[in-house]
Amino acid sequence: MRTEGHTVINPSTPTPLSVKLERSRVGREGRVRKRLSQGPVRGLYSDDMAGNAESEAGFEQIRSGMVRPELDGRRVVLQGWIHEIRDLGSLVFIVLRDSSGLCQVVFSRVGADSALSAALDGLTRESAVRVWGTVRVAPQSRMGVEVKGERIEVVAKAVEKLPYDVTGKVPASMTTRLNHRILDLRKPVNTAIFMIADTVFDAIREYLRGQGFVEVRTPKIIATATEGGAALFKVDYFGKAAYLAQSPQLYKEELVTVFERVFEIGPFFRAEASHTRRHVSEFTSVDIEAAFMNYEGVMQVLEGMVAHVFKRVLEERQRELDLLGVSLRPPKTPFKRITYDEALKELAELGHPKSWGGDLETPDLRYLAKRHTGFYFITHFPTAIKPFYIQPDPNNPQVSESFDLMYQWLELASGGTRISDPALLRQRLQEQGLNPESFKHHVAVYDYGMPVHAGWGLGFERLIMVITRRTNIRDVILFPRDRFRLVP
Ligand code: AMO
Repeated sequence: MRTEGHTVINPSTPTPLSVKLERSRVGREGRVRKRLSQGPVRGLYSDDMAGNAESEAGFEQIRSGMVRPELDGRRVVLQGWIHEIRDLGSLVFIVLRDSSGLCQVVFSRVGADSALSAALDGLTRESAVRVWGTVRVAPQSRMGVEVKGERIEVVAKAVEKLPYDVTGKVPASMTTRLNHRILDLRKPVNTAIFMIADTVFDAIREYLRGQGFVEVRTPKIIATATEGGAALFKVDYFGKAAYLAQSPQLYKEELVTVFERVFEIGPFFRAEASHTRRHVSEFTSVDIEAAFMNYEGVMQVLEGMVAHVFKRVLEERQRELDLLGVSLRPPKTPFKRITYDEALKELAELGHPKSWGGDLETPDLRYLAKRHTGFYFITHFPTAIKPFYIQPDPNNPQVSESFDLMYQWLELASGGTRISDPALLRQRLQEQGLNPESFKHHVAVYDYGMPVHAGWGLGFERLIMVITRRTNIRDVILFPRDRFRLVP
C-alpha cells in the first residue's frame, strides 16, 4: 500500500543536515548573572531600554531579581513597578518588581530633601519608578539583601485604587483574573509561567534546528478544513467563504518536498463548542513534518525535543520553578509505547472495558493514567477515526501508523506517517466523505514526487501546563480565547 522505493531515515541516522546539539551552554539568565557578578552591568539592557538611567555617573543599572548579597556596597539604579509599599513614617519600604523578580528598597525620611519627601508621599502601588541607591546586606529582611534608596523618580503613576490586587493577598477567581489579565500577569507566579514558556520556545527551536528542521510560516486564512469541518471559524473573505486554519497540516506536508524537514510554531484556531480546562479557541501548535521518515522517526524527534526542553528549563528557570512550587524531573527517554489494542486490553484489566474502534475518550484516558504516570505514546489507532492523510498500516490497514503523545491523561501531541501515494490519498478523501475537488491543489503535489513523510502537532500550551503543573490551560495563555471570552 505504501509507495515503494522510499528510504525511511530515523533521526539518529546522521544526515548532512543534522547538527550536533552537544555544545556546552550556559543559559541566557546564567550568562547574565555571570556578567553581573563580574563587574559593571553595562550592556545588560539594550541602549533603548537603558534610557537615561545608565548615563547616571557612578550607578550601575541592575534588575530587581539580581540584587544579591554579593553586590553589597554597589551603587545601583533599578527600574520597575512598585509591588508593595509599607510606610512606617521615618522609613518607607518598597518592594520593587521587574520581570526578573522582586527586591526591597528602603528609604529614610530622616534627612530627606523636599523632592524625595514629596515623591515618597505620593507613591502608589504599580506605579513605574526608577530608583537609585546602594545595595546592602540585610540579614533581617526576607531576601537577606536590600537597596538603601537615595532617590526615586516616578516614571508613570498608577491610580490610587487598583481594580485588582497584584500581590495575591486577595484571592481572585479565574474570571476576575482574566478580566484584569495585565495586572494578573504582573503577579510574580504568573510572570514565571511565561518566562518558562520563553525558554521552552527557545529550546524547541534550538532542538529542531539542530535536527535539520527549517522554520516556516503557513497561511492562517485558508479555503478548506484539514482536521474536520465542525470546529472551523468561518471568515468573510472579500465576499467568499474562508476559514481560520486549524493546523498547518497540508502546507507542512507539501513543504517537505522543498525543505525535507520543516517546523512551525504558530497560532491555530478551533471553534471548540466544549468548555474544558484544556481546550481554547486559539492555541499555539508546534508542528513538524519530515520527508523520508516514518511515525517511529518523528516519535524519536518528539521525545528528544521534550527531554531537551526539560533540560533547558531545569538549567535556566529554577527560580521560576521554585516560585511555582514545581520540582521538575527530567523525563527518561525513550518514552513508553503502547498500541491502541494494548490500551483496550489495559482498560479491560482496569475494569473499564471498551469496544474496539472508538476514540479514547477522557474517562478512558483517566483510567489509563492510573498505570501511566508520565509521558507515553499510544500508537496504531483505528484508521477510520484518524484524518484522511494518515497512513494505514500496510500489514493491517484497519489500524494506522498514528500516535498520540500523552502525559498521564492529557493528550499533548498527535501525529503519524502520512499517505504518500496519490491514489490512496484520493481514495481516503472519498471514504471520509470529503470532496477531492476542494483538495485539488494539495493532491496535485503528490504527482510531483511526494516521498514517505511523517510529522506531528504538539499543543504548546499543554506542554507548558505539564511543566508548570497548571491544570487550566487559561493559566498558561497570556490572553486566552474561549467560547465565552474574546476580551481583554
Ligand atoms: P490534533 O488535532 O490532535 O492534530 O492537534 C494536535 C495537538 O494540538 C493541541 N490542541 C489544542 N490545544 C488547546 N486547545 C485546543 N482546542 C486544541 N486542539 C488541539 C493538542 C493536540 O494533541 N494535524 C494534526 C497533527 C499532525 O498529525 O501533525 C493535528 O492538528 O495538544
